[in-house]
Amino acid sequence: MSEDLEAKIEAAVKNPRNLGEMENADAVGTVGSPDCGDMLRMWIKFKEEDGRKIIDRATFQSFGCQTAIAVASVATELLAGKTIAEAKSMSGEELAAPLGALPPVRIHCAQLVEGALRNALSDNKDAPAQTKPAATSPTLMDQLSAGTGAKVKIVMKS
Ligand code: FES
Repeated sequence: MSEDLEAKIEAAVKNPRNLGEMENADAVGTVGSPDCGDMLRMWIKFKEEDGRKIIDRATFQSFGCQTAIAVASVATELLAGKTIAEAKSMSGEELAAPLGALPPVRIHCAQLVEGALRNALSDNKDAPAQTKPAATSPTLMDQLSAGTGAKVKIVMKS
């Protein structure tokens, strides 16, 4: 990994943007990586602007590596102002672009963020903003520590 990329990841991990559960989120998506077992959850809030439904803000929680945290941090900043279609079309590489090109061994870290985003947007087509009970959802940590009774929906990326 280049020194520049390492420095950017370190800076993002030290001061992550949009970290934490979002109250009153309109959508939430969770994904787990079969490659490393890391997990990431993303919350999204929409708003209407000029007759379009766009992402107002996105936040995340991660039980993942530093690269995944750094990508989620920059990605949640990139997503603000995007339509659902625009957000859905973004690849992990595009979501990680502010950090620079990731080495092949770290590409799945960006795909974890892409997967959580896609999972969150999967039932939010172009319909008017709908409210899912995200605000009452347990945190990722709650669900992970709740044992086998937890109803966490995990989408494994292939
Ligand atoms: Fe698994 Fe980075 S090593 S998400």
